[in-house]
Amino acid sequence: MKVVVIQGPNLNMLGVREQQIYGPMKLEQIHAQMKEFAEQNKIEIEFFQSNLEGEIVDKIQECYGEAHGIIINPAAYTHTSIAIRDAISAVGIPTIEVHISNIHRREEFRKENMVAPVCASSIVGFGPFGYHLAMVGMTQIMQEIAA
Ligand code: DQA
Repeated sequence: MKVVVIQGPNLNMLGVREQQIYGPMKLEQIHAQMKEFAEQNKIEIEFFQSNLEGEIVDKIQECYGEAHGIIINPAAYTHTSIAIRDAISAVGIPTIEVHISNIHRREEFRKENMVAPVCASSIVGFGPFGYHLAMVGMTQIMQEIAA
């Protein structure tokens, strides 16, 4: 079973950007924890980060026939990208959306969410721990599909 983790714009700046919102943890540390969980559970895992919408669309398309699950934080594109939403829908791979912050408690424009309706689940507001929760949830989804 293979999971692809896709991180959107500015998530490469975690640990630097708005620490009062996103905390001190760097993306590499989050990925290291996810990798450890994946190894313990015999899941193949791949990580991808891009600041460009089209590259994220390309990556989602590449998952077709390759990955059994996608964990994605589309970051700011969450609120604007019909292209990312359509790509998730097109590949038909179970997808979990993660947001480090609670997007429902922030600015009005973050309440608009293009991707949530095509995702199996959304995890918001748990900080970096949300990625671990997504791994647990994705493991469950993949086991159900394989059974
Ligand atoms: C975010 C929330 C988005 O609104 C924001 O643009 C981000 C990060 C989060 O993880 O909380 O870049 O997706």
